[in-house]
Amino acid sequence: MTGSDKQIDDIYEKNDYLEAYSQHTDIRVNEDPKSAIGGMWEEIGLLQYEFMVNKNLQPHHKMLDIGCGTLRGGRHFIKYLNANNYYGMDISVRAIEYANQLVQQEGLSEKTPHLSVSEKNLKFYEFPRESFDFILAQSVFTHLKPEHIKECFENIRHIMHKNSVFYFTYFKGEKYMQTGIKDFSYPFSFFEGLAEQHGFKLKDCAEEYNHPRGQLMMALSKE
Ligand SMILES: C[S@@+](CC[C@H](N)C(=O)[O-])C[C@H]1O[C@@H](n2cnc3c(N)ncnc32)[C@H](O)[C@@H]1O
Repeated sequence: MTGSDKQIDDIYEKNDYLEAYSQHTDIRVNEDPKSAIGGMWEEIGLLQYEFMVNKNLQPHHKMLDIGCGTLRGGRHFIKYLNANNYYGMDISVRAIEYANQLVQQEGLSEKTPHLSVSEKNLKFYEFPRESFDFILAQSVFTHLKPEHIKECFENIRHIMHKNSVFYFTYFKGEKYMQTGIKDFSYPFSFFEGLAEQHGFKLKDCAEEYNHPRGQLMMALSKE
């Protein structure tokens, strides 16, 4: 199935936003799994991988890739991390199906990554007993509404231990703005306020992340 503009508009009109977004991603993965998640497959895949390794991601660490998509970054992390240490979650069934195929194609099956279709929320109930050393959401908040990001900040503490760091990217705007059917920009103060409300430390990593489309990187930690 491919998507006409009318079909995509209808999906967003008739469904809750995250349901619509997951269906939209499914359609785009069917069309082209590499551009479905934003394209620039090699460049942005390596960018996120190299950033995390610079931030001291080591093979023995356990990592969660929120909104892992078709593994643009994930394929590098899976290769680098010890077996069992990569967790990728995504609301798109087709993205996870493609991700599983890619793991096989790239000879990474023995790394046994945990790839799952997640609930359409950011409560992390999927991981009742897990905590992660590193958590990443690359190009995810750029597509989420304030209520989804608030939900993430309310719940992410449960999958973080005292030294965990959650890295996420966003598009900066002077104020919150919807800039496309599934595109949003936020002021820094939005994240600052949420971090304060939930007792987190927030670090601006914009200087350390040269995203070709101008997404900025931040780090959230407990201490
Ligand atoms: C632009 S893609 C980026 C994919 C990947 N992080 C990368 O850099 O290649 C965003 C992905 O986040 C997923 N996503 C959006 N909201 C999500 C949520 N609440 N939970 C899990 N996945 C989500 C989408 O389905 C999509 O695959």
